[in-house]
Amino acid sequence: MVPFDDVGAFERALNANTVAVMVEPIQGEGGVVVPASDYLRRVREFCDRHNLLMILDEIQVGVGRTGKFFAYEHSGTKPDIITLAKALGGGLPLGAMVAKSEIASAFTPGSHGTTFGGNPVSCAAGLATVEAIDQEHVLENATSVGSYIIERLRGFARTCDRVKEVRGLGMIIGAVLNHDARPVVDACLKDRLLVNGTAGNVLRMLPPLNLSRQDADAGLAIIERALRTAPIPS
Ligand SMILES: Cc1ncc(COP(=O)(O)O)c(C=O)c1O
Repeated sequence: MVPFDDVGAFERALNANTVAVMVEPIQGEGGVVVPASDYLRRVREFCDRHNLLMILDEIQVGVGRTGKFFAYEHSGTKPDIITLAKALGGGLPLGAMVAKSEIASAFTPGSHGTTFGGNPVSCAAGLATVEAIDQEHVLENATSVGSYIIERLRGFARTCDRVKEVRGLGMIIGAVLNHDARPVVDACLKDRLLVNGTAGNVLRMLPPLNLSRQDADAGLAIIERALRTAPIPS
């Protein structure tokens, strides 16, 4: 592992055994860390220069989360391999590794087996999910409601000392607090809103991609109340 958003760190870690680099387009568990806009392009150049595969872990940010089907589509470059899961099955367990055909052909059917892999019910749910994303303007909604949430939280942050920064893209949103996020998470849960704390002090929001503006307002009211009233941990 090397520091995120730092191509120089790959250069320093490179050795004769290196075959690939694997990064998240935006770090999720790492605290909703959005890299510089040229980061993935620079990772691509680094991989091309050293004949390495570029693997993007889109398990958290793929399948529409950022407002594009794949998060890499914001970057102007393409990876060689993508990992997908979470949203891919629309709630049913499903994961996939997607690769350029010359790489994928290294596997033949059965060479990467898993007991429940490719089960028909999950695959049907995956197809239905992709169709719904296409037909129900889900990406447009994730883009517009996501930027509404980010802007509104940024406005709120100007009035609230405990929020240092609000960052994200589409429907992956993090509010960086000046203390551990747990009391704010707990206050939201008490009000029946599911949010999470990641990287210690980041309040992470991953709302449904089809969230309406009204439901966003209702959720934001809970989050703002929690940020105003939750105890600050010592
Ligand atoms: C970016 C990323 N990659 C991989 C995983 C692990 O995924 P799985 O549980 O499908 O193995 C997660 C889970 O949170 C994740 O966020």
